[in-house]
Amino acid sequence: MYAQMIKSEATADDPDKLKAFQARIDAGEKIEPKDWMPEGYRKTLIRQIGQHAHSEIVGQLPEGNWITRAPTLERKAILLAKVQDEAGHGLYLYCAAETLGVSRDEMTRMLLDGRMKYSSIFNYPTLTWADMGAVGWLVDGAAIMNQVPLQRTSYGPYARAMIRICKEESFHQRQGFDIMMKMANGTPAQRRMAQDALNRFWYPSLMMFGPSDKDSVHSAQSMRWRIKINTNDELRQKFVDQTVPQAEYLGLTVPDETLSWNEERGGYDFAEPDWTEFYDVLKGNGPCNTDRIAARQKAWDDGAWVRDGLMAHAAKRKAAKAAAQ
Ligand code: 3HC
Repeated sequence: MYAQMIKSEATADDPDKLKAFQARIDAGEKIEPKDWMPEGYRKTLIRQIGQHAHSEIVGQLPEGNWITRAPTLERKAILLAKVQDEAGHGLYLYCAAETLGVSRDEMTRMLLDGRMKYSSIFNYPTLTWADMGAVGWLVDGAAIMNQVPLQRTSYGPYARAMIRICKEESFHQRQGFDIMMKMANGTPAQRRMAQDALNRFWYPSLMMFGPSDKDSVHSAQSMRWRIKINTNDELRQKFVDQTVPQAEYLGLTVPDETLSWNEERGGYDFAEPDWTEFYDVLKGNGPCNTDRIAARQKAWDDGAWVRDGLMAHAAKRKAAKAAAQ
């Protein structure tokens, strides 16, 4: 039932209030937690910020996989810092979502029972060290492309969280590109690994921006409310235009035979990802969906004693305070 509540953007709010609310959005004002807001706005934000928070947390898993196998102490320290940053991003975003009246525990339960999603990209495995380069370069690169405009989103706590997140994502993207440079300029075997990582992560990275505009369910309303600033296809195009020259600089080949510069549009023509695969991954059938949710479930179960202990401590303090009054 809650999933339906979250999904629904229909709103039965007072028309005058809705009009005044829309005028504030159109004037570029920020909406703050205690301000009046339409139910659909609140639910859309919970869905999007919650999904984003879950993505940051689940996104630690494919990279965490390589911390113990990083090739040097320096690479290990950098990767460790990056994975810790992602945990921090998840926490800022859960806090932003909590200002909308949903608790982090509720959102976690909704992730675990399938009512909430996380980004499709994290259902792909990281098979070699070059994948750490490709993830930083492409996945964090796609994330930044999507998230920089979100610094101007209409909901204050979300916009503010995005400012710090974007600074850190920028460092993540550079460290990924640095790994790719080393691999692409390394031995023939390292170069093959770099190309293979690009081949496997290219289309899943394009999918991160969501379905094409004609199939995007939420974009139109979310853009009216300035929850989203750009359409999925606009951002995907910007990502391709930015990334293709970087691949050329690395001497690597983007795995798209149709790729060509379109002089008239001033952008690349490129092949769309396989949307059947995208929807299949969303349904839980990607290569790693089961493992990712199992890992989150285990973390949730293993942490139960900490949550119970904290709650018991809080209850004890409350009782002691009441007795003292
Ligand atoms: N993965 C999983 N689900 C996706 C998706 C993706 N890549 N793209 C779209 N979807 C889902 C939507 O959630 C929606 O499903 P729902 O109705 O059940 O919730 C459905 O597909 C239709 O898509 P829409 O385009 O209508 O959905 P949105 O308007 O929400 O747009 C979005 C999708 C562009 C991803 C938008 O939600 C967004 O900008 N979110 C914030 C950014 C975010 O979540 N980023 C996660 C990236 S990973 C990351 O940041 C970690 C970093 O460390 C790399």
